[in-house]
Amino acid sequence: MTNLHASQHPLVAHKLTRLRDRNTDPKKFRELVREIAALLAYEATADLQITPKKIETPLASLVGTELKEKIGLVPILRAGLGMVEGIWELMPTAEVWHIGLYRDERTLKPVEYYNKLPIEPTVSVCLILDPMLATGGSAVATVDVLKRWGVKKIKFVGLIGAPEGISALQIAHPDVPIYLAAIDERLNEHGYILPGLGDAGDRQFGTG
Ligand code: PRP
Ligand code: URA
Repeated sequence: MTNLHASQHPLVAHKLTRLRDRNTDPKKFRELVREIAALLAYEATADLQITPKKIETPLASLVGTELKEKIGLVPILRAGLGMVEGIWELMPTAEVWHIGLYRDERTLKPVEYYNKLPIEPTVSVCLILDPMLATGGSAVATVDVLKRWGVKKIKFVGLIGAPEGISALQIAHPDVPIYLAAIDERLNEHGYILPGLGDAGDRQFGTG
């Protein structure tokens, strides 16, 4: 399907290989998550709407552009947190709305534990941030939440996707474009992505 974008950028591929390496320590891991997230967000925001803006340079008048849409970054806790900082540097006025979900280890179904969204939506476009799209349960549940909130334009930005999770998200929400650094082979019997990078939350927070 055309709503799936796997980055072809050599910088992304290089950094992702270092990220996957089991010898990469949490400090370096966090740095790489931050950098790759920013590169992916650059690709994912190429179609943001703009509006004309008149300014004065020191020498002349100019009609330039400014962003029209209000952007929300929606990290899925915990692992999505590490993707916020790099993207926020590119779009410092973005709002950050956290969604807390964890996967039940037995059923692999997402369990929601944090959601402080106000009643009315405050942004027009949301980037959901989560490094791993495994079964897709967490991503589908988060899109459900954002659609109920009233957000019209939603994109998923992740580092690695499994075919199973990509299909689940595409079937549940075909209108949500998916931006990834890589598409891996499959899930193992515990719902982990192969070859993957292990547990993205534990590797960032040193809790593995
Ligand atoms: C991981 C990951 C995603 C989810 C992906 O979170 O960060 O949120 O699993 O799996 P899914 O596609 O099968 O839903 P986890 O539940 O390990 O929580 P954590 O981020 O707090 O470590
Ligand atoms: N969550 C992770 O952190 N890693 C996986 O491979 C799958 C889900």
